[in-house]
Amino acid sequence: MPLEIASEAADARARCDEARAQGARIAFVPTMGALHLGHLHLVDVAKERSDFVVVSIFVNPTQFGPAEDLDRYPRDLEGDVAKLSARDVQLVFAPSVEAMYAPGARTVVSVKGITDGLCGAHRPGHFDGVATIVAKLFDIVGPCAAVFGRKDYQQLQVVKRLVADLNMPVEIVGVPTIREEDGLAMSSRNAYLSAAERARGLSIPRGLSAAHALYRGGERSARDLRAAVAQLVEKSADRVDYVTVAAPDTLSELSGEIGERALIAVAAQFGRTRLIDNTVLGEDEPPIPGGET
Ligand code: PAF
Repeated sequence: MPLEIASEAADARARCDEARAQGARIAFVPTMGALHLGHLHLVDVAKERSDFVVVSIFVNPTQFGPAEDLDRYPRDLEGDVAKLSARDVQLVFAPSVEAMYAPGARTVVSVKGITDGLCGAHRPGHFDGVATIVAKLFDIVGPCAAVFGRKDYQQLQVVKRLVADLNMPVEIVGVPTIREEDGLAMSSRNAYLSAAERARGLSIPRGLSAAHALYRGGERSARDLRAAVAQLVEKSADRVDYVTVAAPDTLSELSGEIGERALIAVAAQFGRTRLIDNTVLGEDEPPIPGGET
């Protein structure tokens, strides 16, 4: 079936309704485009779970702060469509800003509590923008399995909360982070990095891997696990927004001894590029295999 492209919400909704009426199970991958192998892996997971894959491509202005990179965020609709067509995706929804935010729009979806820390503390309003656009997209696509990467760990938890709290008929599927060969988490923003900044950015997966090594050796002190990551990242980054050890489900910061699982999440700036990454001790493999020793 050739790839269809919808730019209006009503057309995307009608196409999804039609597919469901024909018995298709829909899987949905929301994106901001500039697709890399990490996104394409999400598409592959979506394909395994469905007969009809929808990918949205929309650089959502409401999740960018005034001093953030909305204007220079990479955009390549033609290239993205070619990649999705080669992947046998059925529908791309690529609306304009006006199609998603009509003049006079006043409704904001806000998920409380789990948005207070981590990126929420450093990007005011970001998760309101994410929750609002994701709620709108889910309303357009309708009942589906929606696939998100775990690199945006806090976003994944926010979306799970949103769906549970608003009784949305959407199953959220979280997919492990896809990494470059050297361990850097794949991100559309990696394209901004100079070679030197990219090399310094590797301090994040190295730090997270060092925490795995300590954890495997029996270390359970949240402070010491955090310090192992912070030490490496602080040496290399131009600014560190946070290195946080938190409960994987509630995202509340941990102190004292951690339990069986603990999230370590990092956000740091290299040049003009802000990178985020995370790992769950007791659950994930280290970002750099063997890099933990
Ligand atoms: O993760 C992203 O690319 C975006 O935050 C999302 C979920 C597509 C909402 O704009």
